[in-house]
Amino acid sequence: MGMSRPTLTVGLIGYQFMGKAHSNAYRQVGRFFDLPMDVRMKTVCGRNEAAVSKAAGQLGWEGYETDYRKVLDDPEIDVVDVSTPGDSHREIAVAAAKAGKIVFCEKPIGNTLGDAQEIYDAVVAGGRPSAVFHNYRKAPAVALAKQMIEEGKLGRLYHIRAVYLQDWIADPKFPLVWRLQKDKAGSGAHGDIASHIIDLGRHLLGEFDSVTGLLHTFIKQRPLAGEIDDRLGAAASTDTGEVTVDDASLFLAKFKSGAIGTFEATRFAVGRKNHNRFEINGEKGSIVFNLERMNELEYYNNEDPANVHGFRLIQATDGGHPYAGHYWPAGHIIGYEHTFINLVADAVTAIANGKSPSPNIEDGLRNQIVLDAVERSNASGGWITV
Ligand SMILES: NC(=O)c1ccc[n+]([C@@H]2O[C@H](COP(=O)([O-])OP(=O)(O)OC[C@H]3O[C@@H](n4cnc5c(N)ncnc54)[C@H](O)[C@@H]3O)[C@@H](O)[C@H]2O)c1
Repeated sequence: MGMSRPTLTVGLIGYQFMGKAHSNAYRQVGRFFDLPMDVRMKTVCGRNEAAVSKAAGQLGWEGYETDYRKVLDDPEIDVVDVSTPGDSHREIAVAAAKAGKIVFCEKPIGNTLGDAQEIYDAVVAGGRPSAVFHNYRKAPAVALAKQMIEEGKLGRLYHIRAVYLQDWIADPKFPLVWRLQKDKAGSGAHGDIASHIIDLGRHLLGEFDSVTGLLHTFIKQRPLAGEIDDRLGAAASTDTGEVTVDDASLFLAKFKSGAIGTFEATRFAVGRKNHNRFEINGEKGSIVFNLERMNELEYYNNEDPANVHGFRLIQATDGGHPYAGHYWPAGHIIGYEHTFINLVADAVTAIANGKSPSPNIEDGLRNQIVLDAVERSNASGGWITV
């Protein structure tokens, strides 16, 4: 009889957009990475039985539940993955940590800094590992940028110029879905997408020192959302309701290292679909990443001879590039969903080796501290120390 392999058994709460991305990652990860542990997809949870049972079959789960407490009560489940909207993160994540589970949580971890702190405290008290889905760190080109910075290829860092631009609610008739309601989402573009560029800023330049920012709402009334009919949309009703979150978030930042940055996140950049781009300038060179061309990293080496100065385009698809060797031969590109596979591969490997996954709940809390500082700066009009 062979030795049975160690297994990490997962229960997933929420099965729509992120639920689908995470399910795909759990399903695929062992097919591309040689992991020290198998991932078992035991239970998916949602409140609507017909929909969650269909999702279980389609996404590859052994079974389903309609109450998350059943998932927490299952002694076989090691990991509880919180992929619901922000208003239920605190309740589910705190209960999961108290039940002794490993907590994987979507970003931002809470709707408020208070929620995030409670989740962080419960996870730390539970003494189990955690992971937070800031997946863009795991794009090979971003991981390459991190490597190059650590190797000193850019020298001292001066600037980050980060934008995350979308346009999916630019139509004033787009309905009031949960993402536009403060009680459900906590904030708008700010927590949803500025949180991602904050994570990239922290990952690549280190901790924030202080921020000053502006949150703005262009369209203050929208048709109420009828029946949800796809993951971001809904049929519009004829009644209207108030938009209680920001449509756009802009801020300036100083980093503890002395670097400075600008951050802009909006859902009103007409024509931009998921334009998550940063440029970092250092004394020895510059790098540019854009999610819409996510397999590429632009690199300007200021130490090249002046007659060949210019940005070069690195295809981060070579076996020597981070993550790339787990997939295809050089030039055979990967996509959005692979960032989640890479994140899960790293988290499972860390857990199997008794290490803390990265990013984890502390990154979630530190991210939320920056989000909160920008919100306070918007209210007070001044600089806020992070
Ligand atoms: N990492 C990323 O890039 C990324 C992208 C999108 C969303 N998110 C985050 O993921 C989370 C979920 O967003 P989404 O886009 O998947 O939302 P969604 O609306 O597509 O799906 C939410 C799911 O949660 C379920 N749900 C809601 N309340 C529940 C409860 N109390 N118990 C059980 N199930 C419940 C819904 O039925 C649905 O299945 C949010 O925190 C969001 O900010 C992260």
